[in-house]
Amino acid sequence: MTTATAAAVTVPLLDLKAQYATIRSEIEPVVKEVIESQYFIGGPKIGELECMTAGYCQAKYAIGCANGSDAILLALQALGIKAGDAVLCPSYTFFATAGSVHRLGAQPVFVDCDPATYNICPESTRMAFRCHKNIKAIVPVHLFGQACDLDAMLEIGKEHGVPVVEDAAQAIGTEDIHGKRVGSRGVIGTFSYFPSKNLGGFGDGGIITTNDEALAQRMMRLRNHGMEPKYYHAEVGMNSRLDALQAAVLLVKMRHLDAWSAGRQKNAAFYDASFAAAGAQDSGSPLSAGGLALRYPKAAPKGARHIYNQYTIRVPAEIRDAVRQDLADRKIGTEIYYPVPLHLQECFRYLNYTKGIFPHAEAAARETIALPIYPDLVQEQLDHVARSVIESVRTRTSGQAAAR
Ligand SMILES: Cc1ncc(COP(=O)(O)O)c(C=O)c1O
Repeated sequence: MTTATAAAVTVPLLDLKAQYATIRSEIEPVVKEVIESQYFIGGPKIGELECMTAGYCQAKYAIGCANGSDAILLALQALGIKAGDAVLCPSYTFFATAGSVHRLGAQPVFVDCDPATYNICPESTRMAFRCHKNIKAIVPVHLFGQACDLDAMLEIGKEHGVPVVEDAAQAIGTEDIHGKRVGSRGVIGTFSYFPSKNLGGFGDGGIITTNDEALAQRMMRLRNHGMEPKYYHAEVGMNSRLDALQAAVLLVKMRHLDAWSAGRQKNAAFYDASFAAAGAQDSGSPLSAGGLALRYPKAAPKGARHIYNQYTIRVPAEIRDAVRQDLADRKIGTEIYYPVPLHLQECFRYLNYTKGIFPHAEAAARETIALPIYPDLVQEQLDHVARSVIESVRTRTSGQAAAR
């Protein structure tokens, strides 16, 4: 730890160089091994990663692919989703969840989020089934690394006879309230190796899990142009393979994944305690009179494991941008996940969703800020972030009260 003053402490939103410094000596030889082999597509590293991932995610099969967006697309295509079908997904998520539906010519049907967890809301999901015909699949997201209410989603899927594809892009190793890993209970689970994820590659990558052998085989064909055997194509797939260099890097990183996720949990617990001590409330509780106008994430339910791919706080919409600027002035990186819910995105205007229809997603889009949470943060950085957030929210809200 340095003895620098708070003014000199910088805290990027994510510091991948800090992580790389701790594993460089493990990574360099495996990268060299792949280069020496000149075996870049397919090969033993892919099989090894798929095997390790299936075990880690408590699923029978894992199928590597080019990225987490393709993972969703391959899953839906393998399930027979096609033009004219409707697929239900949350509005408050990264674009790829719905983008993959659209890429198949199907129509995304959006639903609202739960205001405390920001995950897909079961009541809103049930309502969507009452209003839309032709829904052929549900794609809930385990947002920010916390499991959605999977029991409810699976029950709704069963009720309507449609499969549940878990978008677990942000949630490798996340467990639901039964201690089950995400991606093991839905018919298919999809994951991203985008570098900012808890398990990130040195570029794009993704993986898909399933317990269904026929689906696994179909997705293996589809990721390789639908080819089986070589140069024979019973259906049209795509080129969406994971490459051997990524697999080699990811195999090394997997050894550290649980320790990294535990580091994120520890950092989250520190922020939670700091914010609670300053008078903030969790995202499931009303703000207390005279307390701090800040909400930290509601604790994961008993039995569940939140891996904190993101740590997201919430402040009144009127001060959100100013708080973000205050943090930037103190060299603290933040991000807004996500400023526009998907039902209000320009490209989905043709679906005719109106403003106000999903109040929780829209409020979250106005009020949330993601803070640095990566495991390599040192105490001085954590202190700087917690203190700066508290001071900024206090100053900005007292300014507002004075102006009224
Ligand atoms: C919820 C969610 N779904 C899908 C994706 C797509 O993953 P990728 O960027 O690997 O295509 C992401 C990536 O950030 C995501 O957060």
